[in-house]
Amino acid sequence: MDGNGRWAKKRFLPRFAGHQAGLETVRRLVKYCAQENIEVLTLFAFSSENWRRPQEEVSLLMQLFITALQREVQKLHKNNVKLRVIGAREAFPNQLQEYIAQAEQLTAQNTGLTLVIAANYGGRWDITQAAQRMAREIQQGTLQVEALNEQQFTQYLCLADLPEPDLFIRTGGEQRVSNFLLWQLAYTEMYFTDTLWPDFDQAAFQQALHSFSTRQRRFGRTGEQLEKNA
Ligand code: IPE
Ligand code: MG
Repeated sequence: MDGNGRWAKKRFLPRFAGHQAGLETVRRLVKYCAQENIEVLTLFAFSSENWRRPQEEVSLLMQLFITALQREVQKLHKNNVKLRVIGAREAFPNQLQEYIAQAEQLTAQNTGLTLVIAANYGGRWDITQAAQRMAREIQQGTLQVEALNEQQFTQYLCLADLPEPDLFIRTGGEQRVSNFLLWQLAYTEMYFTDTLWPDFDQAAFQQALHSFSTRQRRFGRTGEQLEKNA
């Protein structure tokens, strides 16, 4: 979700106004995804690197996160949305950690859209914490080194129980992954757009979905093989 700051700057507004407008985009798209029966939506809200921003912006972002949870969780729950937060949450203010835990608990049994918020998340962090947990099990003797394979390893990652993402969208013109779901994106279709996140409306999202629908996903096979089996 990139481009909040530039959106604000274009309007001679403080950066924070861009983040507020970005939150509106989140609200609209979550509603749309729920309606369209999209299974999982993962949003990169705050990266492990975003702490490097000016302290004022960081604390305003934390505050925005808290208010969003306070205001939206009941509505999400009513719409059968399951909320989940991934990332090193112990770095967040206590109050925020509590709200997150409460929201996850409240919505845990919901069966509609799974909304994953990546907060203080980094793809390398995810892989490292997985390796740590795995190593611990080997140390304790509950896991055999010989039993290790990709599938096993995946079980220790944050999104182990969810399907790998079909589509990755980055707004704001940059064409890089910026330490998002590194392991999980191995076969994901990538979509980059210059649209700034606060301007990324339903039509823009539909355009991304349309682009996705035109891709042939070969997973290493040839196009001819796929056509034969179609
Ligand atoms: C992304 O928008 C939002 C967060 C990282 C929270 P930016 O704040 O990176 O917006 P630009 O890149 O300055 O336009
Ligand atoms: Mg940015």
